[in-house]
Amino acid sequence: MTRCLDESDVRMAEEGFTTRDLLENLLLEAAQQGSREAFFVADLEDVAKKHLRLLKALPRLKPFYRLKCNRSKGVVQLLAGLGAGFGCASKAEVALAKSLGVAPERIICSSPCKQLSLIRYAASQGVQLMTFDNEVELGKVARSHPCARMILCLATDNSWASARLSLKFGATLKTCRHLLEKAKEMKVEVVGVSFHVGSGGSDPQGFPQAIADARLVFEMGAELGYKMHLLDLGGGLAGSGESRGRFEETAAVVNAALDLYFPEGGGVEIVAELGRYYVDSAFTFVVNIVAKKEVPLDQPGSEDEEPGGRKSFVYHLNDGIYGCFGSVLFRQVCPTPVLLKKPPPDQPLYSSSFWGPTGDGLDRIVDRVELPELSVGDWLVFENMGAYATPAPASLEGDRQTPIHYTMSRVAWEAVQLLQGKILHPEEEDRESTCAPLSCGWEITDTLCVAPVFTPASIM
Ligand SMILES: Cc1ncc(COP(=O)(O)O)c(C=O)c1O
Repeated sequence: MTRCLDESDVRMAEEGFTTRDLLENLLLEAAQQGSREAFFVADLEDVAKKHLRLLKALPRLKPFYRLKCNRSKGVVQLLAGLGAGFGCASKAEVALAKSLGVAPERIICSSPCKQLSLIRYAASQGVQLMTFDNEVELGKVARSHPCARMILCLATDNSWASARLSLKFGATLKTCRHLLEKAKEMKVEVVGVSFHVGSGGSDPQGFPQAIADARLVFEMGAELGYKMHLLDLGGGLAGSGESRGRFEETAAVVNAALDLYFPEGGGVEIVAELGRYYVDSAFTFVVNIVAKKEVPLDQPGSEDEEPGGRKSFVYHLNDGIYGCFGSVLFRQVCPTPVLLKKPPPDQPLYSSSFWGPTGDGLDRIVDRVELPELSVGDWLVFENMGAYATPAPASLEGDRQTPIHYTMSRVAWEAVQLLQGKILHPEEEDRESTCAPLSCGWEITDTLCVAPVFTPASIM
């Protein structure tokens, strides 16, 4: 049975009560307890809206969620309840998906280069779908998981992206035929093609080319007697920022390419394994200043060396790149601190740098932001911190050290319950009516394109 989100895990926002109010309440509670621990506020309504927006814009798509992106309990239980599948890259992730009650057919082991222990574990759990991009992987699978149903991972041109997954994974079109022939020799079943257009850019044109290439691989497969029926579009859809606003544009480009190369009725199931799209904008990280240093801008060695001796500040926060700001180093993300209260317009601003708590010189979060002078004990808010940033619990028993406070409006909660009921008991409803709760009070269709309940911009 699917383990859905429990009401007791979510702080319900009643009408008129925003997530910003929740944030302020949490800070009040922290002050009463004398706590300065960093924490997340996660707007699960934002995640649910993203799911519905996806179903609406890409009606042929069966969404999978890439677990690596954010394995927090609230997110995974919500998405499992909404019927998403899960893309897993490790044994712990397969175990997590299984513990949610997700059926093995809704799990893809989508790392083309897997540890043998993962392949064996997947076999023991009845998980058959897995990706590959090389001959050695085929050999491992042929020996350890003969019932596996393989997806050939295709390299794409993602030179525009900041996270270029094709540098690490993916077979070129030239090697695909050879791999398909080898798979035939080894009696390994190949059921589809996957790709990843790259993340951290905004080029929807990556999709048509990759979809066209996938069509060629389907044809190569057909020539060798394979009946492929699965196309996995990977991830790469933005979850916040400017590109997020281009979601419908990207969806239209994807739909057009699908209609051209994989027309409806052709027996090909379309999935995608989205990570940042689902969670990036839903999470806000709140951290505390633990130390402060005034540094003259012309201090020898300062990167801002400038005559005149204007002062600047260096602040140390209670989390850094070895914690929840890891994406600064690993994904070239540039987080922007937001103050809890808008400073008066005449308050002087200083160049301010923020560092993590470790002694490591790499532990720099953000540099040279113009801000008023801050104090030790002040709180800072970082928005769009849901992707590749949050704690990674190995099980559902508890999120790791950094607390996450989940929130959702009551009306959204009720809509999610209705939706889950329909998904978990499909005998009572058909998929056509999946969006019925939209007309049951939660007018998501009208609000899909507007900011979520939590609008931290208003904090400034
Ligand atoms: C194979 C695969 N699919 C999907 C994703 C999710 O990508 P994104 O977060 O851009 O949606 C990743 C991320 O690394 C991945 O490796």
